[in-house]
Amino acid sequence: KHIIAIVPAAGIGSRMGAEIPKQYLQLNEQSILGHTLDCLLSHPSIEKVIVALNPEDEFFTSLPQAKHPKLQAVVGGKERADSVLSALMLAGEDSWVLVHDAARPCLAHLDIDKLIASADTFSQGAILAAPVRDTMKRSNAQGLITETVCRENLWHALTPQFFPAHSLRQNLSDALAAGAVITDEASAMEWAGIAPGIVTGRADNIKVTHPDDLQLASLFLNSAAQ
Ligand code: CTP
Ligand code: MG
Repeated sequence: KHIIAIVPAAGIGSRMGAEIPKQYLQLNEQSILGHTLDCLLSHPSIEKVIVALNPEDEFFTSLPQAKHPKLQAVVGGKERADSVLSALMLAGEDSWVLVHDAARPCLAHLDIDKLIASADTFSQGAILAAPVRDTMKRSNAQGLITETVCRENLWHALTPQFFPAHSLRQNLSDALAAGAVITDEASAMEWAGIAPGIVTGRADNIKVTHPDDLQLASLFLNSAAQ
């Protein structure tokens, strides 16, 4: 299998509310995106890493990884799915892609291995996910609980998400053209009637979204380094 990583990194991090896009914030010894790229670039099964950047990006070329021979950069789009689609244009027809958020710097090689190995079972593709731990509630617009949602078979969708490049490209572009709301790769496959597999991933593979996630990510990275 030819395996290519795609890293959507074109967002502006509005929920983080920092001066700069969150993927360029310092986390321990380097940037968030630097950690993410190091993990993917150092994985022996990954042939190439395609990173999708904001057209106004001012920071990428200063990263120590920017000139890595396995790395390629493309201009991303308005939504995350547009960024992924523009990177997919550079993925070979017969390759498989691991799509991984720039904002998830705590990814472990063992989780990548597990996901790649799952393709023996899930020929349609699969995603990393973590089981929901808390009791789940649905509320109404007034903030009152209307329902307890059964936790069984409920998951947090993580990344990487692993799919054949040609089928993801087709389904993602069709779903976007149809106006579907697509927040991850699996939802584009689901839109096309395909049921992706679930591979249990580590709960520390968090997405840095709000300021308090930085401390947590820092802690996870330090404990992984020991
Ligand atoms: N992303 C992207 N292209 C976009 C929007 C998001 O490549 N048009 C990327 C982000 O850079 C991030 C990943 O998709 O690595 C997950 O998105 P999210 O956590 O929502 O990041 P942002 O969109 O930057 O943050 P926010 O939604 O708070 O603005
Ligand atoms: Mg976003």
